Amino acid sequence: MKARGRSSSSGVDLHGKKILLIVTGGIAAYKSAHLVRLLVRSGGEVRVVLTASASEFVTPLTFEVLSGNPVPAGLFAPRSEPGVRHVELATWAQRILVAPATADFLAKAAHGLADDLASTVLLAARCPVILAPAMNEGMWQNPAVRRNIDVLRGDGKHFIEPGSGALACGESGSGRMAEPEEIVRTLLSSFEPGDLAGVRFLISAGRTEEDIDPVRYLSNRSSGRMGFALAAEAKRRGAHITLVHGPVDVEPPDVDACTRVRNAARMKAALSKAFPRCNVLIMAAAVADFTPVTRADAKIRRVEGNLSLELKPTPDILAILGARKKKEQVVVGFALETGGGGRFANEKARRKACDYLVLNRVGERTGFSVETNQISVFKDGRKVLATGIVSKEEAAAAIIGQLAADVRLRRMKR
Ligand SMILES: Cc1cc2nc3c(=O)[nH]c(=O)nc-3n(C[C@H](O)[C@H](O)[C@H](O)COP(=O)(O)O)c2cc1C
Repeated sequence: MKARGRSSSSGVDLHGKKILLIVTGGIAAYKSAHLVRLLVRSGGEVRVVLTASASEFVTPLTFEVLSGNPVPAGLFAPRSEPGVRHVELATWAQRILVAPATADFLAKAAHGLADDLASTVLLAARCPVILAPAMNEGMWQNPAVRRNIDVLRGDGKHFIEPGSGALACGESGSGRMAEPEEIVRTLLSSFEPGDLAGVRFLISAGRTEEDIDPVRYLSNRSSGRMGFALAAEAKRRGAHITLVHGPVDVEPPDVDACTRVRNAARMKAALSKAFPRCNVLIMAAAVADFTPVTRADAKIRRVEGNLSLELKPTPDILAILGARKKKEQVVVGFALETGGGGRFANEKARRKACDYLVLNRVGERTGFSVETNQISVFKDGRKVLATGIVSKEEAAAAIIGQLAADVRLRRMKR
């Protein structure tokens, strides 16, 4: 009987695919048992390697039963076993998943150490490697870990960013391993031919901060989640992504180029520079509309009575780039629903020469600083897409799906 399981949006599943799962020694190792079930249910042939530390958290027997394959006990096999264990595993695997990936394992992998079966297989492998880190926030933010991740990215390894929330160590923050379902989705998409391969996206995300004096600024509640979800989705579908983001509350996804800026003027400069080379611009950043006329050199002191702050408009980046747009470029603007709904969206799209305008609703579970959203997409004065309240990842998948279907994008694809 064919295993019933997951397949990707384009119908790819894991039948006939050989997946090596390396489990390293973090508390999230318990989630990897569920991950193996999902992989097997999707039709994958799964073999598992545990580090010695991982075996302190979960038993090899659990993974043997769930994967249907023996879990090798270490680097050095008994003489009766034919072949060399790490070479055999490295050549067998079509994908290597490391979940959870500890800070220690990232360090070893970044430096090419090979002192146990897991690290030696990784070093010997030629197939794509996907790492799902998990650790407490202190470790995740540690500069040594950030450096190791940069090295591994530079070596072509793929990362599934951890989420934030309650961590198993009792703390809360970023560093929680991505859910097994998301890991399977990423793995499935790694087998898909990227339908956006060759398309260059320029995406802005996050908020801007406009200085009033050395310690105060004007800003908004944008978290960066929506723009980052769009970047991750387009990347997943094979596009080349340049991300320009302001201050944010979450980690940026793994993209091709990423620039961080603080204020509207810097965002305009970074986007203007990258715009001529992009095929699609998505302006998901919440850029301040106004900035103080002057920035005080010293902290403004408390005064008796009211204090007036004079503001001037910031450059309207969407309108400026919309006016420079070449015929084959696609420009996507974002707007927050202010009551005018579709009429307001269409008027804004016309004024700023946008091909698409995405309207966000502002509500308790939608808009800024929350993980869900409800969007409508307008094109040529017509609503072409509307979602209910969905996760920002789902909203991003819907928006990118809409853009991918755009006939101009089809022509751009090589
Ligand atoms: C209770 C406990 C929980 C741990 N959780 C993590 C974790 O989530 N992430 C991490 O990077 N290290 C964690 N560690 C530390 C690793 O287990 C340690 O660095 C170990 O050397 C990793 O070995 P490995 O990378 O070979 O699996 C934890 C240690 C203990 C004792």
